[in-house]
Amino acid sequence: MRKASIEKANAISRDGFVETFGGLYESSPWVAEGAERERPFEDFGVMLRAFERAVDGASEKEKLDLIRAHPDLAGKAAVAGELTEESASEQTSAGLGRLSEEEFERFTRMNRAYHENFEIPFIVCVREHTKESILENAEVRSSNSYDEEIKTALGEIHKIAGMRLGDMIEGGEK
Ligand code: GUN
Repeated sequence: MRKASIEKANAISRDGFVETFGGLYESSPWVAEGAERERPFEDFGVMLRAFERAVDGASEKEKLDLIRAHPDLAGKAAVAGELTEESASEQTSAGLGRLSEEEFERFTRMNRAYHENFEIPFIVCVREHTKESILENAEVRSSNSYDEEIKTALGEIHKIAGMRLGDMIEGGEK
């Protein structure tokens, strides 16, 4: 997909903006609605920070809903082919689309243990990881406090959104 310029993101209609960027934060278009109010953006970084601010300024309940909008890694929605396009391609990039039975069971156990511990899905920016390092990361994070994990999950969500935006807008390449 060809990337759009920041000028284009500034020029499209409000509805068009929310439709185009509503998936940056998983199934949570209210983030794009909040960011849209800060247009025009000077560049990629300013645009991304507008999205981050929309999340950071939301209520605790909205933040928790955003976290809970994420599907489990190699979970039920992935198996059923019900992931959003973005999530499906991220999970594939870390090799989660082709797990052996044993690996799949390790993910299932990890997801269950994490949910029991924190009552949220385990969220990590999978594009920075392999399947092995995801499981290691979950193991390390399992001894965190609830508050630390909420903070970590939101940090990972911002990273995921930054990479998604980098795929769409010029100037976001690393
Ligand atoms: N990391 C990147 N994408 C996702 C996702 O869709 N779900 C979870 N749990 N973590 C992710």
